[in-house]
Amino acid sequence: MMKNIFCGETNVKEKYYLTTAIAYTSGKPHIGNTYEAILADSVARFKRYQGYDVFFQTGTDEHGQKIEEKAKSAGVTPKEFVDKVADEIKGIWDLVGVSYDKFIRTTDKDHEKQVQKIFNKLYEKGDIYKGSYEGWYCTPCESFWTESQLVDGKCPDCGREVQKSKEEAYFFKMSKYADRLLEYYNEHPEFILPVSRKNEMVNNFLKPGLQDLCVSRSTFKWGVPVDFDPKHVVYVWLDALTNYITGIGYDADGEGSDLYKKLWPADVHIIGKDIIRFHTIYWPIFLMALDVPLPKRVYGHGWLLQDGGKMSKSKGNVMYADDLVSYFGKDAVRYYVLTAMPQDNDGLISWESVIDVINSELANVFGNLVSRTIAMTNKYFGGKVSDSKVIEEVDNDLKQVVVSAVKKVTAKMDEFKIADAISEILTVFRRANKYIDETMPWVLAKDESKSDRLKTVLYNLCESIAIATSLLYPFIPDTCEKALNMFNLNVRAFDKLETFGLEDEISVTQNPEILFARIDAKVVMESVNKMIEERSAALKKQEAPVKEAVKKEQINIEDFGKVELKVGVVTACEKVEKSKKLLKLTVKIGDEVRTVVSGIALAYSPEYLVGKKLALVTNLKPAKLCGILSEGMILCAENSEGKLAFLTPETDIEDGSGIF
Ligand code: MSP
Repeated sequence: MMKNIFCGETNVKEKYYLTTAIAYTSGKPHIGNTYEAILADSVARFKRYQGYDVFFQTGTDEHGQKIEEKAKSAGVTPKEFVDKVADEIKGIWDLVGVSYDKFIRTTDKDHEKQVQKIFNKLYEKGDIYKGSYEGWYCTPCESFWTESQLVDGKCPDCGREVQKSKEEAYFFKMSKYADRLLEYYNEHPEFILPVSRKNEMVNNFLKPGLQDLCVSRSTFKWGVPVDFDPKHVVYVWLDALTNYITGIGYDADGEGSDLYKKLWPADVHIIGKDIIRFHTIYWPIFLMALDVPLPKRVYGHGWLLQDGGKMSKSKGNVMYADDLVSYFGKDAVRYYVLTAMPQDNDGLISWESVIDVINSELANVFGNLVSRTIAMTNKYFGGKVSDSKVIEEVDNDLKQVVVSAVKKVTAKMDEFKIADAISEILTVFRRANKYIDETMPWVLAKDESKSDRLKTVLYNLCESIAIATSLLYPFIPDTCEKALNMFNLNVRAFDKLETFGLEDEISVTQNPEILFARIDAKVVMESVNKMIEERSAALKKQEAPVKEAVKKEQINIEDFGKVELKVGVVTACEKVEKSKKLLKLTVKIGDEVRTVVSGIALAYSPEYLVGKKLALVTNLKPAKLCGILSEGMILCAENSEGKLAFLTPETDIEDGSGIF
């Protein structure tokens, strides 16, 4: 539940029900998945601020073959697996301040029960029928494809390998509803946002003709069983999509709860661009078949991608919200992801760009304005200012920029252009900073006759901050609350935002806090790179196949006698350029001096080896390694974790001695 820190009551407007996609519980969500939750949260908070009676649902999608397989390789049951990941997802949503009203899990018993009822209802109606399926299955996408749908023999959605599959299965008659869906699109031009996505759906899927959809699986168990034929489980997308109604109390056999009656149809489903087809074709058609009204809008956002190379778990460079929050704090992370996303395109994130935005926008523009204004109000007026109404032309320009931002931000939010909305707010802070340079309060302060003018200037700055910070509140709530507290203000009521001059007197704190400290990129990046390296090393260690001593066949003494082993002493040693693992050793073996190239660079430094005596195979055929001819092989012991130890004579003995 949100704490009410708003000043005054805004009239309660109608309900607003919004949802995110429910995240797969296949692993910890990266910053890209987290972006969607933050985006939807900022919409929910903005709507609440406008006075809507908001209900915000998010959650987790927990069934399917991929999860069954992941659990198996982790050596736990699927339920144990999803419980852990769902907790992790919820923990991250909480960490970044996602103010959901309901967190649904598709393993919730009441959801599973409704999924079964929905399946029965559609079967009894004749929209679901039994048949058999032969096609190609993409496990990561949980999708079946026909031969002709494959692209270069791979999944058309994700480009990964597909497996041939034949199953007895239940099918849903998609084609029956195609015309009705097209009609709905035409009558509701606002249904799919951005509009470009609608054309994609019509041209790529509806016009070529919809195929019946396979809505059950029998090759794995981890799903909601079809209750009249339990060797089948319900197709994960039919299960998942229905969360939007089951979570608020839909009942396939009855009227549903009061909450359902109040909230449905949803005002918006916020989802990523990759799953628009499921939400704008399958989902509306399932609802038509159930005689349930369709959601008002589906907004498909772009993706937040990692800048500077592909994210890869094994490289340890996947960016997670909790790491980012631990370095920069929750609000800086929220601010970055919300502003990094142009509406119709993908956005980029890197550690460096986050630091850059914090320094250049949050610290330099917002933080700086707040701290300068507080410092001057304290210095010149003991912390209290009112409007003494000594107005100059420049004031009107400032007020106009501040007040007009309210409508601009609202309009952008209505179109889900969050980055643009925030940019309008930043324009106000920038304008106010410029106003300081234009009015030069430090010059006014030197002339006592200008005291009233100075008071007006500072009052205007405080009011500008009060309004713009209130507008920014839905996006970075904690910081805005902290900033307003420093002016002894609450978030201004939404319908009073355009009243510049609302406060008679504003008093500021004597002990201001820094909202966003400037970040030293060099220091932070050193620490981040260290974290990435450590993570990558730990992952490699985890994933390294355990080396077992291979049992070899028995040999006789003649076989062993073919190997010539001698003691050598290392007289020089250096790293082999272009290789991380190889060292070039000069080894004296009695009267002979040989070059030996050995893969022990990760275990030993060249300096350490010089002067050491060790055991070598001296009659191996010479071989070139990295262009250097190696004339021997050093004997080493290696344990199951890859730790090396070379073999050395127990007491000192001349080099060149044979080993038998
Ligand atoms: N479980 C399905 C959704 C079912 S909804 C009935 C699913 N899960 S997901 O975990 O793969 O993705 C959850 C959401 O995160 C989706 O909307 C997806 O588009 C979004 N994103 C996944 N990667 C993303 C980025 N890199 N950037 C932004 N959003 C991303 O799909």
